[in-house]
Amino acid sequence: MNTVWSKYIQGAKTLYYSRKLRFDDKFANGYKELFGLDEKKKPKILEIGCGSGALAGALARWYPSAEITAVDRDYEFIRFAKEHEKGVTFAEADISALPFADGNFDVVISNTVCEHIEPSVFYKEQLRVLKPHGVCLVLSSRKGITVAPDCYAQSDYEKAFWQKAEQHDNTIEKYGVGKYYLNEKELPAVMERHGFKFVKTGYVIADFTPDNPDTAPEFAHAIINADRYAAIESIESVEHSTPELFSSRETAEMKRIVNSKYDTRIKQYDNNEKQWDATVSVTMVLRGTKP
Ligand SMILES: C[S@@+](CC[C@H](N)C(=O)[O-])C[C@H]1O[C@@H](n2cnc3c(N)ncnc32)[C@H](O)[C@@H]1O
Repeated sequence: MNTVWSKYIQGAKTLYYSRKLRFDDKFANGYKELFGLDEKKKPKILEIGCGSGALAGALARWYPSAEITAVDRDYEFIRFAKEHEKGVTFAEADISALPFADGNFDVVISNTVCEHIEPSVFYKEQLRVLKPHGVCLVLSSRKGITVAPDCYAQSDYEKAFWQKAEQHDNTIEKYGVGKYYLNEKELPAVMERHGFKFVKTGYVIADFTPDNPDTAPEFAHAIINADRYAAIESIESVEHSTPELFSSRETAEMKRIVNSKYDTRIKQYDNNEKQWDATVSVTMVLRGTKP
């Protein structure tokens, strides 16, 4: 049972709640325009490296006639996805050996996966399982904007924790996280080199500013809490990868500090004490066609 990513790299809630924001229905038109899919053809869509399932769930809402399958090799993500999203068939599978026949899908899609897998391995199976003229969509997170509110500033206790953790943590190198990161001109060139035609690129920009008057209160809370989940699960990843480094009292104290910061931010929001903290995410969308 593979749980490497969810245990040591990013937890299920970190991925799920950040992607629920990024693939919220208010951004659907931007993505759908770049995807250029024909809904009338009831496309068979495969998502590879689906994590905890938020993009697959969005696709099920945006393309109600489509048949959607989503795979990841991490058992915990697939378990979480099955519990949280409807209208998708989720399964455990490895991208380098997809358990599907040749020419089975109209569309293959992924989000923030190409950065972690050697390009010829990443594209080979996608090309195989796509039908002729099938569409490959590669979504990749680009540098955006992150400005934190003052209440998120790290205390000395947190600084010391992260300094010590970083000295002992080799997770990134050990699991090759981000090893195949490519820039915005390399990405389309590599897609063409691996057999795709009519390659196009585009960008979806999503603004997460809780204090903007047009941000609904539930959405503002979701923005703050998505960061809370990521902060808590990053402490848990340290607990999993270097269990000898901190006592349970120390990690519990870290979680208490983190939770109190996010509680403060929620209170500030509810009391209309504007902080103007902002996250702006930029998602690059590559679209290529199998000849
Ligand atoms: C950065 S996460 C992105 C997850 C998801 N697409 C999202 O945006 O939330 C990368 C994902 O790729 C998966 N992954 C990495 N290598 C894989 C492989 N060889 N086969 C299947 N999944 C893989 C990981 O388990 C993880 O869920």
